[in-house]
Amino acid sequence: MSNSDAKAAAVESAEKTFTLRDNTSGQTYELPILKGSEGPTAVDVRNLYGKSGVFLYDPGYTSTASCSSGITFIDGENGILRHRGYAIEDLAEHSDYLDVCYLLLHGELPSPEEKTEFDYHITHHSMLHEQLIYFYRGFRRDAHPMAIMVGVVGALSAFYHDSTDIADPQQRMVASHRLIAKMATIGSYAYKYSKGLPFIYPSNKLSYAENLLKMMFAVPSDDFEVNPVLAKAMDRILILHADHEQNASTSTVRLAGSSGANPFACVAAGIASLWGPAHGGANEAVLKMLGEISTKERVPDFIKRAKDPDDDYRLMGFGHRVYKNYDPRAKVMRNTCHEVLNELGIHDPRLELAMELERIALEDDYFIERKLYPNVDFYSGIILKAMGFPTNMFTAIFAIARTVGWIAHWKEMLSEGTLQIGRPRQLYTGERQRQFATVDIREHKQSRGWSWLWGNSKQD
Ligand code: ACO
Repeated sequence: MSNSDAKAAAVESAEKTFTLRDNTSGQTYELPILKGSEGPTAVDVRNLYGKSGVFLYDPGYTSTASCSSGITFIDGENGILRHRGYAIEDLAEHSDYLDVCYLLLHGELPSPEEKTEFDYHITHHSMLHEQLIYFYRGFRRDAHPMAIMVGVVGALSAFYHDSTDIADPQQRMVASHRLIAKMATIGSYAYKYSKGLPFIYPSNKLSYAENLLKMMFAVPSDDFEVNPVLAKAMDRILILHADHEQNASTSTVRLAGSSGANPFACVAAGIASLWGPAHGGANEAVLKMLGEISTKERVPDFIKRAKDPDDDYRLMGFGHRVYKNYDPRAKVMRNTCHEVLNELGIHDPRLELAMELERIALEDDYFIERKLYPNVDFYSGIILKAMGFPTNMFTAIFAIARTVGWIAHWKEMLSEGTLQIGRPRQLYTGERQRQFATVDIREHKQSRGWSWLWGNSKQD
C-alpha cells in the first residue's frame, strides 16, 4: 500500500460500534468507529447532532480528531514521530530539507530525477517580485519579523494572481512551490530590513539551508562562505520543524482553507497562529527564561515557581499537548546543539543551564507525574543564537520550515474532493432573549471605563 493510499485506510470498523447513552431520555446511539492505519481509533459523531440534538463539547480539541490525514503520525506516549511512515530520526540524519518537502507533499521520497526536478523548481521560485520588496518599506524598522511575514505572505496573493485559483491543480502546485521557495527569502529580508542592511538575492547554486544562511548573514561588500556544519544544522532544524500533524497553526491553515481561501492567505493565517508563545514563540521564550535564570544555583528556584499551583509561571520548552514522553525532535536538536557549539568554539553557559534544568526536571516528581519532557523548542533557541540569529527570528525560522507542512495539509484537504467548510458549534452561555431598550430610557450609570470589558488588562 502506498502512502497516499494509507489515508483511504481510515475505514469504518465492521465489528465494533461505540454506544452513547443519553441518561435524560434513556435513548442510546450506536456510533460507527473509524480505524486509521495505526494509532487510536475515532468515534464518528458526524450524524450525532442530527439524531440526538446534542453537540460534543471539546474546546481545546483534546479528544477530537478534526480530520483524517496520511501525512504525519505521532505516538506521543512513546515519543514517535513519522512522516509518511519514515522516522524523523532517519529523515534528520539521511535526508535534506527539500527531500522531506517532497515526501510531505507527494507521499513518497523522490527518485533522483524527481529530486533534481523538485529542487530546480523550488530554487527557481525563491526570488520575490521586485515590487514586493518595496512593500517592506511600509513597516517600521523595529517591527517583529513575524509581523512582517504575516503581512508579506498575505500580500503574495496580490502579486501572484496566476496561482490563486484553488480549483486548478497546476495553479495549486505553482502556489505551493512559490510559498516554500519564497518563505526563506521573505523571512531573511524581514531581518535585513530590521537592520537597515541591503537585501541579498537568493542563489540558484545553493541548497535551501545554505541560501537561507546566505540571505541572512551575507553582505554585498564581503565574500560569504557557507560553513557546511552550520548548513547541515540549519537543514536539520528545517526538517525537524517541517510538519507536526494537526497543531494549532496547521489546523488554522486547514480551517482558513476550508472556506476556499487562496493558499497565500491561508499560510498567512498559519503564521499568525504560530506566533503565540504557547506554540512557535516558545523557543524565543526558552532563551529569555535561561537569561532570567542566569546561574545554575538559581535553577531550583525557577523549578519551584513552575511547580507552584498559585504561580502561573511555566518552564518554557517543557511539556507538549501530544508528547507525554521525550519529544524525539528534542533529542536530535540536543545533539545538533553540541555539534554547532563545538564547530563555532562557543562555550555558551545557557547550554549548561539548559542541561541542568533538564536533569533536575526529569528527576522531579511534578514533571514525571505530568509527563513533562523537553520539547523541540528547548534546544533550538541555543543553536539559532549560536549561529547568529537574533531572538526575534526564531519563530520566523519555524514559520519558514513549517510552510511545507501547512501546504501539504492544505493540498491533502483539497484533494479529498469534497471541500467542506470547517464550522465548529458552541455551547451558548450568554443572556437569554431580552427586551431592547432605547438609550433615552436606559438606567443612568457612571461610566466604568473600558478596562472592565477586557478583564484587568491595560487600556491601549
Ligand atoms: N512548566 C510547568 N508546568 C507545566 C508546564 C510547564 N512547561 N506545562 C504543563 N504544565 C503543567 C500544568 O500546569 C498542568 O498542571 P496541573 O495538572 O497541576 O494543573 C499540567 O502540567 C498539564 O498542563 P496543560 O496546560 O493542561 O497541558 P497542555 O497539553 O494543555 O499544554 C503546552 C501543552 C501548552 C505546550 C504546555 O506544556 C506549555 O505551556 N509549555 C510551555 C510552552 C512551550 O514550551 N510550548 C511549545 C510547545 S511545542 C511547539 O509548539 C512546537
